[in-house]
Amino acid sequence: MCGIVAYVGHREAYPVIIKGLKRLEYRGYDSAGIAVLNSDGLSVYKKKGKVADLEEHVIGRNISSHIGIGHTRWATHGEPNDQNAHPHYSASEDLAIIHNGIIENYSSIKKDLQNKGHVFKSDTDSEVFIHFIEEIKKSNNCSLEEAVRLALNKVVGAYAIVIMSRTEPNLLIAARKGSPLVVGLGKDEFFLASDATPIIEYTNEVVYLNDYEIAIIRDNSFVIKNIQDVKMTPYIQKLEMELEAIEKGGYPHFMLKEIYEQPKSISDCFRGRLNASTGHLLLGGLREYANKMVNADRIVIIACGTSWHAGLVAEYIFEEFCRIPVEVEYASEFRYRNPVIKEGDVVIAISQSGETADTLAAIELAKSKGAVIFGVCNVVGSSIARATHEGAYTHAGPEIGVASTKAFTAQITVLSMMALMIAQRRGTISERRYHEMLVELETIPAKVEKALALNAQIEQISEIFKDATNFLYLGRGYNFPVALEGALKLKEISYIHAEGYPAAEMKHGPIALIDENMPVVFIATKDSSYEKVVSNIQEVRARKGRVIAIVTEGDTLIPSMAEFTIEVPATDEALMPLVSVVPLQLLSYHIAVMRGCNVDQPRNLAKSVTVE
Ligand code: G6P
Repeated sequence: MCGIVAYVGHREAYPVIIKGLKRLEYRGYDSAGIAVLNSDGLSVYKKKGKVADLEEHVIGRNISSHIGIGHTRWATHGEPNDQNAHPHYSASEDLAIIHNGIIENYSSIKKDLQNKGHVFKSDTDSEVFIHFIEEIKKSNNCSLEEAVRLALNKVVGAYAIVIMSRTEPNLLIAARKGSPLVVGLGKDEFFLASDATPIIEYTNEVVYLNDYEIAIIRDNSFVIKNIQDVKMTPYIQKLEMELEAIEKGGYPHFMLKEIYEQPKSISDCFRGRLNASTGHLLLGGLREYANKMVNADRIVIIACGTSWHAGLVAEYIFEEFCRIPVEVEYASEFRYRNPVIKEGDVVIAISQSGETADTLAAIELAKSKGAVIFGVCNVVGSSIARATHEGAYTHAGPEIGVASTKAFTAQITVLSMMALMIAQRRGTISERRYHEMLVELETIPAKVEKALALNAQIEQISEIFKDATNFLYLGRGYNFPVALEGALKLKEISYIHAEGYPAAEMKHGPIALIDENMPVVFIATKDSSYEKVVSNIQEVRARKGRVIAIVTEGDTLIPSMAEFTIEVPATDEALMPLVSVVPLQLLSYHIAVMRGCNVDQPRNLAKSVTVE
């Protein structure tokens, strides 16, 4: 949440920062702002709204500068308005800060500062932070670097910050704890950003800051220290991301591009790991601790949002193939009770961004209780990827649309591979079934391709239902998490109220909602609960509900009772979510577009939720 970018070097800072902010807008888009330094001094320009509004706001201003910081906000403290937008000035206006995170003890610091005469222009914790730093600098008569260090030792909470100073025109000071921050090392230039996407166009050499590290960039030198003032050796990594992976490539929205990328992202996920013809299945990330999973008494999956839905699919797969009991927990709930984690329990944390604050905190809690944690992340080098003992990347490539699509299918792909690998080692799957599953897995990209070919039909159905005010999504077994995911996609981007339910549970409540205005999406592919779902469809029809059914190709029964049917290719029921979710992604996409919603940046949401 909140995206930050900073630049110092030989280029004009403004275009680098604006472009970077646009790439980070998925992290929040309540307001945007920049600070630059030139003959007019240290100037802050900020505006409620999107980066495009900021661009308009600065027209005609002197924004030429070789150094600058920029911010795109997802509001935590204070409503989204111009005053609360970042950057924030210090009291003297000699310093400016951008901040991603939350300072939890800000109100006591604010009170102290107010007693000393400080006046605040915003309601934010971030403004308090920069006033605090300046106050320390003055009262200790120390350097800015030292003041930042002292302040960081006093604040509680999460932060990725970058500070610039009017009096030191070649200095940027950055620090992180809990919120991500990447430093890009160019030739005589430096970039700082919440993720690598604003940087890759200029350099592929980056350093991911660790918690409690401070980066000092001064006159072309770059030093990292910890908050005890000990110099650290930076670990320089080479980025492998391609620029085209973060551009729309001719698609009107990132979400549509990402939906269409799924055949490739699933294949990428297999690459070097799966070969059905030789029976090869190996996740390189599961080595040292793989036996822990093989011998696990229980698996606990922790995640949020769409990743939690992938966790539910994994629950069914692990229980079916590995015969290990699985619990799937919302990370936010897990961390605030006193969960029972015993020796022999294994935790799997799933996260696209690898930065979700609740998931990170849940990992730390589970670790403190001695659990072994496996991570399933998409973003390489992310905090969760680094906080887990071992793990497997999903290799889906950057996902920029706020509504997760290709990350979901990649997560299920990785988790299926994990489960099959473990099942084979435990001897809980027959060799025949194991090979059948590997062969079937390899056919999934082609089947997803066929599901994507349904786009035109789904667009027509969307036209018919675009004005609905409610939707119900029903599925059973492996298709139950798909129903939840379908409903989540629709509400996230079209703002239509939608509920996902296990089809059989419908009669315990949601059935009361059904009338001639209620569209009910059944995920009713041919599987072990098919007949039961057919009965549920009849029940909805009997109450005049409007049925849209996702069925297996060649099904003749459900088309005779549903108002609309969408036929997807057959596959093993354990892998069906990879295929059956695709029409639901397209349905929500088209409905949202038809309703004029901002598909890639839905209101109030952010992609990377770094606050709890
Ligand atoms: C946010 C996003 C969702 C995502 C969830 C978990 O709510 O809008 O799309 O599923 O966070 O994020 P993660 O990065 O941990 O998978």
